[in-house]
Amino acid sequence: MIANWDTKFETNISEIDSQHKKLFRLINQIESVYEENKDHLSKKSKLLVEAVSELEDYTLSHFLIEERVMELNQYPDLESHKKQHDRFTDKIMELKNRLTSGNLLTNDIELSQFFKDLIGFLRLWLTNHILKEDMNYKPYIKLDL
Ligand SMILES: [Fe+2]
Repeated sequence: MIANWDTKFETNISEIDSQHKKLFRLINQIESVYEENKDHLSKKSKLLVEAVSELEDYTLSHFLIEERVMELNQYPDLESHKKQHDRFTDKIMELKNRLTSGNLLTNDIELSQFFKDLIGFLRLWLTNHILKEDMNYKPYIKLDL
């Protein structure tokens, strides 16, 4: 597992923390399928698409909830935080489109490279986003959901 939960990621908002933990688990799930099937990923194409879709769906609903919490607490940098979420949403949608269109799902070599990049991107994005952007709203949150 390359993306482990750590207390440094805690926002102290229980719902948000449990959603962030789930995001780590979903990334780790994708990574496990990748690690166990590196040379023949095309045989796991259905599982991989499902795992990426689940991460995409869960992330979108998580962002909405996080934005509601920020809004509720009148967080002053809500708009720029939302922009970070939107940028990530665009990126993951683009990556999922790349995965499911064309012949990528039948090409083991390209699939392996794609998932290596995807997992690296997801891990880096999530950890950076929580540590930088999410930690910024932490002092403003007085009202939980
Ligand atoms: Fe966020």
